[in-house]
Amino acid sequence: MKFSNEILRGLAVAGLAITAAASTTPLRKVVYIDQYHTATLPGKDVTAGVTHAIMAFANSSLFTTDPPGKYEPFMKVSDVRAMFGNDTKVGVAIGGWGDTAGFSKGASTNESRALYAKNVKKMTDDLGFDFVDVDWEYPGGNGADYKQIPNANKTAEITTFPLFLHALKAALGCKPLSIAVPGTKPDMVAYGTYQAKSIFAAVDMINLMSYDLMMRRSNETNHHTSVVGSLEAVYNYLDIGAPASKINLGFAFYAKYFETPANTTCDNPVGCRIVAAENADGSDAGTSGAMTFEAANVSPAPVPAKLAMTTDGTCGAATAGLTCAGHAEAPCCSQYGFCGNSTDFCGQMCQSAYSSGCTGPDAAKSFRTALAGGRMDDDEGGMWFWDREQRLFWTWDSVDLMRRKFREIVTPLRLGGVMAWSLGEDSAEWDHIRALTALAAKDRPLYIPT
Ligand SMILES: *[C@@H]1O[C@H](CO)[C@@H](O)[C@H](O)[C@H]1NC(C)=O
Ligand SMILES: *[C@@H]1O[C@H](CO)[C@@H](O)[C@H](O)[C@H]1NC(C)=O
Ligand SMILES: *[C@@H]1O[C@H](CO)[C@@H](O)[C@H](O)[C@H]1NC(C)=O
Ligand SMILES: *[C@@H]1O[C@H](CO)[C@@H](O)[C@H](O)[C@H]1NC(C)=O
Ligand SMILES: *[C@@H]1O[C@H](CO)[C@@H](O)[C@H](O)[C@H]1NC(C)=O
Repeated sequence: MKFSNEILRGLAVAGLAITAAASTTPLRKVVYIDQYHTATLPGKDVTAGVTHAIMAFANSSLFTTDPPGKYEPFMKVSDVRAMFGNDTKVGVAIGGWGDTAGFSKGASTNESRALYAKNVKKMTDDLGFDFVDVDWEYPGGNGADYKQIPNANKTAEITTFPLFLHALKAALGCKPLSIAVPGTKPDMVAYGTYQAKSIFAAVDMINLMSYDLMMRRSNETNHHTSVVGSLEAVYNYLDIGAPASKINLGFAFYAKYFETPANTTCDNPVGCRIVAAENADGSDAGTSGAMTFEAANVSPAPVPAKLAMTTDGTCGAATAGLTCAGHAEAPCCSQYGFCGNSTDFCGQMCQSAYSSGCTGPDAAKSFRTALAGGRMDDDEGGMWFWDREQRLFWTWDSVDLMRRKFREIVTPLRLGGVMAWSLGEDSAEWDHIRALTALAAKDRPLYIPT
């Protein structure tokens, strides 16, 4: 028998007890651990409930050769395991944004696929990974190199991508295979209805990147991971036959910002003009970026009353008050805490309190203004802020909105799990990861007999 959620809700409202054996499959709670955010990682009190941890990334080109290249994880796998409960599966992600070359090559022929799969299997066995995540962004094109290699030159990947996944799955045996999939429809180049069926059959989990929905190719402001945008992303996959039980809804542990043009105002989160965030060659124009929920961004130590001129070129919030302000050759302190005078130092993210001559907006300062003044768009389900002074538009996800995503997406659509990018980015208070595991633990209020 099949009930719809609406009918079940009706029954619940009518006070009828639903006594069917409750579905006992717990939601998957998947977190990426990325190599750039390992300075502060949590203990088991915070990670309790996480079912899958994914170390990101192994270079996709390592597995195209015979013998393969050697993947050196950024942390010992045993140290990662020690951060989680005994049952947590630890996997490895291959690829990531900008790394498509190895996939393109590895997927191309029967022979290359077999070799690639064999090499990946060996790596996972050698290093003791429990599963593999393929982060090909994206098969068929629209990746970082889309201006260098047009999508028209990648049409074969639409055919080879599913074959590639099946070769990996066959080689991995009982180790699960997951894929990270694009959040916006235009980037689903390789997900034709015909191929989709084969893609979804090959994988055990679909990590839906339902974030970055506003990105550097956008022309206008929008929420980057709103409730409505996430729901639409899920439907893009359900519509082409993805089993809901394989989908993990993606959550972002960071905010995004975009520069708005001079002499414009932005009183609405959707549809404001932005300064072009991508150059004609497809590279990043440096007018947008991401800001993580790390302490250095959310609640940095106050600027010391007395600053000392740097003697070794380091500067900023991470030092004990070293500045480059007034330095003859290198007056700007970059976000990474080094003095210099190029755009990388003086442009966006220039730490203005430790610099003279910042040319870009101070995104770090603006982020705190945004968090303090954040506005909720109830219709779309997104937090946003427009900083008039710094001319930056901000978009992010709050714990309240995460709750809405469970209520309006994960629970009613009966998704198999949730996913987050990335654990180390939430280190200020670990509030997003705690909310994610707590909400996921409470999910599954309804049972749908089939
Ligand atoms: C991956 O390896 C290839 C080949 O060695 C190299 O050209 C490329 O820069 C690497 N990519 C990343 C993201 O490190
Ligand atoms: C996890 O494994 C460790 C080491 O084998 C063991 O001491 C501990 O009791 C286990 N914890 C649980 C909750 O099973
Ligand atoms: C590749 O493998 C498929 C299925 O095993 C087979 O039908 C096809 O002929 C092979 N193609 C080549 C070029 O070897
Ligand atoms: C794309 O394909 C065209 C036509 O086959 C070819 O001339 C061109 O060199 C290719 N470009 C790249 C970057 O591979
Ligand atoms: C942005 O504008 C350009 C130029 O009008 C257009 O080609 C592109 O498709 C637009 N991008 C989006 C995401 O709408």
